[in-house]
Amino acid sequence: MGIDVTPSGQACGATLRGVDLRDIDDATVTAIRSAWLDHKVLAFPDQDLSDDDLEAFTLRFGPFGEDPFFASIDGHPNIAAIRRTANETSSLFAENWHADWSFQEFPPDGTCLYGKTIPPIGGDTLFTDQQAALAAMPSELRERIEGRTAIHSARGGYAPDGTYGDDDANRSMQIRPSDDAYATQLHPLIRTHPETGAATLYSVLGYIIGIDGMDDDPADVEAARSLLGDLYHWQTREEFQYRHRWEPDMLVMWDNRCVLHRATGGYEGHERLLHRTTIGYNADVRTG
Ligand code: SIN
Repeated sequence: MGIDVTPSGQACGATLRGVDLRDIDDATVTAIRSAWLDHKVLAFPDQDLSDDDLEAFTLRFGPFGEDPFFASIDGHPNIAAIRRTANETSSLFAENWHADWSFQEFPPDGTCLYGKTIPPIGGDTLFTDQQAALAAMPSELRERIEGRTAIHSARGGYAPDGTYGDDDANRSMQIRPSDDAYATQLHPLIRTHPETGAATLYSVLGYIIGIDGMDDDPADVEAARSLLGDLYHWQTREEFQYRHRWEPDMLVMWDNRCVLHRATGGYEGHERLLHRTTIGYNADVRTG
């Protein structure tokens, strides 16, 4: 039986049925990759995956990415637990829009997230299609960002004085803040998707802390902040979004090269647990 692909009807995203992710041959991997490039976010309901299965699936799409500020789960160095206990009072993890680990030199191509304990209400993940956002961008804003290079850093989240830093001791997720988070990395604001060739916006204010060449003079720093703020408002408009509703035993994979995502709350009193892997930078899919 072939894979059944149902688009979400929103800006991006599709649900795939008729495939058991524990056992995929090369033709199935090719079909999933093609759907992934088309829809950017794929959801696979009713998958019965062990942690070994999750790792094996991830490796069909690239090497593991490097997850710098998370502890892994026992026995699986490439799986992180995205966990929130029922009565947790720490701030919501990943509530700001982001592209995973965009502050790395070679950020992960994708992310896989597998729903284990899913609250009956709330806890959706939002995605926003950055290829669509760029394609529809007013020329005035596009002219302001064309040719610009962004400065990325993890400091706001993972430095000792960041959101998940030393004052965040009561979180159930195993986050490991570090001075390494102060490092910076440059990436163009507009990039070409290495597999589809489509122009796309990359990352967002948050991991982006400034614009290269606009980071010395205070007036320039302020102008860069203002530009990144205007860009943020465009990138995250509702018309570019897909709201993903979770189910237990559902695997979702998204393409960090062309979508942003963020967590949402609304499930106070309920536990939420998902296992996450990152699909690292895959040199094999890059041509030229
Ligand atoms: C993440 O950004 O890895 C987590 C998203 C979520 O918890 O919905």
